[in-house]
Amino acid sequence: MSLTRLQKVMAQAGIASRRKCEELILAGRVTVNGKITTTLGTKVDPDKDEIRVDGKVIRKEPHIYLVLYKPPGYVTTVHDPQNRPTVMTLVRDYNQRIYPVGRLDYDTEGLLLMTNDGDFAYRLTHPKHHVPKTYLATVSGIPNKKALTSLRQGVKLEDGLTSPAKVQLVKKGTDSVLLKITLYEGRNRQVRRMCGAVGHPVLHLKRTSIGNLSLEGLKPGQYRTLTTEEVVELKNLVGLK
Ligand code: URA
Repeated sequence: MSLTRLQKVMAQAGIASRRKCEELILAGRVTVNGKITTTLGTKVDPDKDEIRVDGKVIRKEPHIYLVLYKPPGYVTTVHDPQNRPTVMTLVRDYNQRIYPVGRLDYDTEGLLLMTNDGDFAYRLTHPKHHVPKTYLATVSGIPNKKALTSLRQGVKLEDGLTSPAKVQLVKKGTDSVLLKITLYEGRNRQVRRMCGAVGHPVLHLKRTSIGNLSLEGLKPGQYRTLTTEEVVELKNLVGLK
């Protein structure tokens, strides 16, 4: 018998991210062997206990891991209250069983991971794991040395100082530059906020890699499944076997 925390079992079954599963538990939408359970620490035996969400029995599903080249003009949520196109429409073969890992802004294009492995998604987006994410950002104006040093060493944002980042000036235009930025944390709209804070608003933004994954071979709107090696490597990065 292996006892596991309820929210982890739910996340592994592809219900949602672990955090979202906690919300479902707290909302009283989850039953274990017919009894509503609102305690987050509840331990269950996934092989024996019957867990239901909104009355529906959860079942272990094979894990799916995709890398999608998100085009601009799509939201990275499963449902959009404003009815804008969602990335879910680009991966229709997989239906609603997978969801995006973290976010890319509506206007941002590039690499987006999608999975039904909630535990994996939770760890990849957890700040403690520092999984590198690389962006190509076209910014307005020509940043001087001081601005570039700030971006590298830490920019004061409303949610605190950013941690050290790699920043490389790739191409200089007349009134804009292309920067390659690698972040080891993932805050909301972080690249746009960092560049804005040093006086160089982002004009165009593309994420080119997460950990060992790149966009190679993909056109906007296309996706592929991860290879076993890629999954193993990413799992290693976040302490999963
Ligand atoms: N940083 C941003 O500002 N936007 C994104 O979409 C991703 C990272």
